[in-house]
Amino acid sequence: MSTQIVNIQPLSQPVDLGVEPATFSPDVEAEIDRHLAKYPVMRSAILPLMFIVQRERGYLDPPGVLYLANRLKLRVTDIWEVATFYSMLHTQPIGKYHIQVCRTLSCKIRGAGKITEHCIQKLGIKPGETTADGRFTLSEVECLGSCGTAPMLQINFDYHEDLTPEKVDQVLDALP
Ligand code: FES
Repeated sequence: MSTQIVNIQPLSQPVDLGVEPATFSPDVEAEIDRHLAKYPVMRSAILPLMFIVQRERGYLDPPGVLYLANRLKLRVTDIWEVATFYSMLHTQPIGKYHIQVCRTLSCKIRGAGKITEHCIQKLGIKPGETTADGRFTLSEVECLGSCGTAPMLQINFDYHEDLTPEKVDQVLDALP
């Protein structure tokens, strides 16, 4: 006897986040307007707008996500799909310095595992965690396009290449 499947929900449901949308200063709104004006299709501005909201709020928090959905006339789930795809977008608070160690082939062959392990030992956190003082978040990510200088990592927007554990120490110890 076949089982009848009932109550199949559409893939994308309206989502009530239970928050008010974020608000931004007139300067930030003007910056957002400038980006929206560049694109004939509004949703194409999703990434630049996400970076602005993330910059202003520290991460893509529920009020920020709701703001983006309203501003881009998209569903919350549309925003969420993009927010959770890219490693440079954050849906949880992250540390002041986001250390992203590349773990893809070239870096892997040239010692990325040692670099990650060194960061784990030095910072006392595992990938996906943030130090208790909120200073560092450690992540492992896929190829950052700097394979010729493997192994490498990215801290916020800066690349650090041809790494050794000693060089990682120098880079981390020099951060303000
Ligand atoms: S494999 Fe690490 S940057 Fe490409």
